[in-house]
Amino acid sequence: MNRQNLQRVVAVINGKGGVGKTTIAANVGGLLALSGWRVLIVDLDYQANLGLDLGYQGKAGDDDGLALAQALAYGVRPGVLKDVRPGLDVIVGGGHIDGAAAALVSKAAQGKLDEARLSVASMLDSVAGEYDIVLLDCPPGNDMLQSAAVAAARYVLIPVKTDDGSLGGMRITAGRLEQVIDLNPDMDLLGVVVFGSGTAATTVRRESTAQIVEALGGADADEEIRTQIEGLVFESFLRHSEATAKRARGRGLLVHELDDQVKAAPKFWEQLKAGIKPQSVGPASAEGVADDLQAIAAEVVARIQAKEAESSEVAHV
Ligand SMILES: Nc1ncnc2c1ncn2[C@@H]1O[C@H](COP(=O)(O)OP(=O)(O)OP(=O)(O)O)[C@@H](O)[C@H]1O
Ligand SMILES: [Mg+2]
Repeated sequence: MNRQNLQRVVAVINGKGGVGKTTIAANVGGLLALSGWRVLIVDLDYQANLGLDLGYQGKAGDDDGLALAQALAYGVRPGVLKDVRPGLDVIVGGGHIDGAAAALVSKAAQGKLDEARLSVASMLDSVAGEYDIVLLDCPPGNDMLQSAAVAAARYVLIPVKTDDGSLGGMRITAGRLEQVIDLNPDMDLLGVVVFGSGTAATTVRRESTAQIVEALGGADADEEIRTQIEGLVFESFLRHSEATAKRARGRGLLVHELDDQVKAAPKFWEQLKAGIKPQSVGPASAEGVADDLQAIAAEVVARIQAKEAESSEVAHV
C-alpha cells in the first residue's frame, strides 16, 4: 500500500498493561500540540483511559469507540473528536472496539488476513495526512489490534516498566513487530522509554538498559549490536509519582496543566489569611513529572527528525 500519509504515525505499544502507554501518548501529544504541531491521538483501547487523561470521557463527542469500530470494520472514514486541546484531535476509543476487533479476527479467518492486519493503516490513510504526528495508544491485550497498529506505524515507541523486573511484555512486543514486517518493511523502532521509575537517572539508565538489551536478545550479541540496542533506550525517562498521576487522571488534566494549576494556586498561608480552609490543588511533584514528560516529548521529536534526515540522505545518494 501507499504509505505517503503514514510517515508520522507512531505506535505507543507494549503487550504488557500498566506501563505508561496512555500517559505517554496523551502527554506527548498534548505537549506537541502546545508547541504548534497538529496532533491526532487514536485510542485503540476498549478501556478508553485516554479519555480520562484528556478529560473528555462521558462528555459530548465521547461515543465509546463506535465511530472507530465502524471505521475499522467497514473501512469508512473515522469520526474525529476535534480540538480536545488547541491543535489536538482524538479518535475516541471505548467498549465498541472489542466488537470491531472480533470482526477483524473473523475477516482474517476467512482468508483476508492482510486486509485485517491493514485495517488501522487503511483507516488512517484518509486522515493522517492532515496531522504532523499521529500517536496510536495501543491496548495491552488485543493481538489483532496490536498487529494492525504496528502494521500502520512508521515508528514504534515502547514504554517499559523495569521496577517489577518484568520485561516479558517487551519480548512479546518485539515478536509482534516481526510478525508484520512483511506488510510494513519501513517500520522502525523509535525507542524504549522507561516508565514510573523510582530510582535516580543514572542508575535507571544503567540497570534498565542492561535488562532491555537482554530482552531484545542482545545479551549474546557482538559489541556493535549491543551499542545499537543501547541507543534505543531514551535518555529521558518518567519518574514515579503516584500522587501526580492520580490527581492528573482524576481531573482530566495533562501533567503540565496540573503543574500550571499548582503554581497558580494561592499558597496555603494565603488561603489561611483569606479565611479559606487550606486545600491542596495538587502535589508539588507535578513539576518534576511535567519536566520528564517534556524531555520525553523533545526526545521523540529529535529522534524522528534524525531518522527523517537519515532517510532523506539515503534518498539523495
Ligand atoms: N509518573 C507516574 N508515576 C506513577 N504512576 C503513574 C505515572 N504516570 C501514570 N501513572 C499511572 O500508572 C498507571 C498506568 O499508566 P497508563 O494507563 O499510562 O499505562 P498503560 O500502559 O496505558 O496501561 P494499560 O495497559 O492498562 O492501557 C495509571 O494508573 C497511571 O495513572
Ligand atoms: Mg492504556
